[in-house]
Amino acid sequence: MTQDELKTLVGRAALHYVALGEIVGVGTGSTVNKFIEALADIKGQIKGAVSSSTASTERLRALGIPVFDANEVGELAVYIDGADEIDGRGYMIKGGGAALTREKIVAAQSRRFICIADESKKVARLGGFPLPVEVIPMATQRIVRQFQALGGTAKVRLKDGRPLVTDNGQHILDVTGLQIGEPLAFETEVNQWPGVVTVGVFAHQKAAVCLLGTAGGVQTINY
Ligand code: 5RP
Repeated sequence: MTQDELKTLVGRAALHYVALGEIVGVGTGSTVNKFIEALADIKGQIKGAVSSSTASTERLRALGIPVFDANEVGELAVYIDGADEIDGRGYMIKGGGAALTREKIVAAQSRRFICIADESKKVARLGGFPLPVEVIPMATQRIVRQFQALGGTAKVRLKDGRPLVTDNGQHILDVTGLQIGEPLAFETEVNQWPGVVTVGVFAHQKAAVCLLGTAGGVQTINY
């Protein structure tokens, strides 16, 4: 099976976790795009979605799925999103699509995080994928030095030769060379560096379930 087919498979499998009659939290990325396509098939049976990015909002609306502001609604039953890496405890690296801040906000507003991913995302230890960190631009170089002190190399993510600007008007650093053995402690520490908006380690908002697309079908992992 191709990676695209695995994404389609887990995107459809996630429908099983959608609470009918309710509002579902929707993430961002190519795997979530498959979920959004599947969600359109049952759009008459849900109230709508809270979205984690302008890209997902546009897709949802184009398929006739109502999108609510996070402030208009209370706690959500589930948040469905992909990951760049997921370890054996359900801790993740996210933000490859630069949507990590809103993803963490909607995840925090939801009772359960259902991660949908193909098997290439499963790792023994986080840190192989460059860690995305959303930062306030005036703090960029100091944060670069703070990562250097931890043994990492941080680079500003570019788009068309200029710093990429997130949905929140900020920049992204991608950090390589880190071994993240203690994701909870790491997330707590980096989050409190001045100028860090969001670090792409999702340990406090970890997955409750991972639907992993494998050659043998969808593997359901509960954490
Ligand atoms: C976006 C994300 C995505 O969930 C992550 O990058 C995985 O994306 P894809 O499903 O395209 O592999 O965190 O900010």
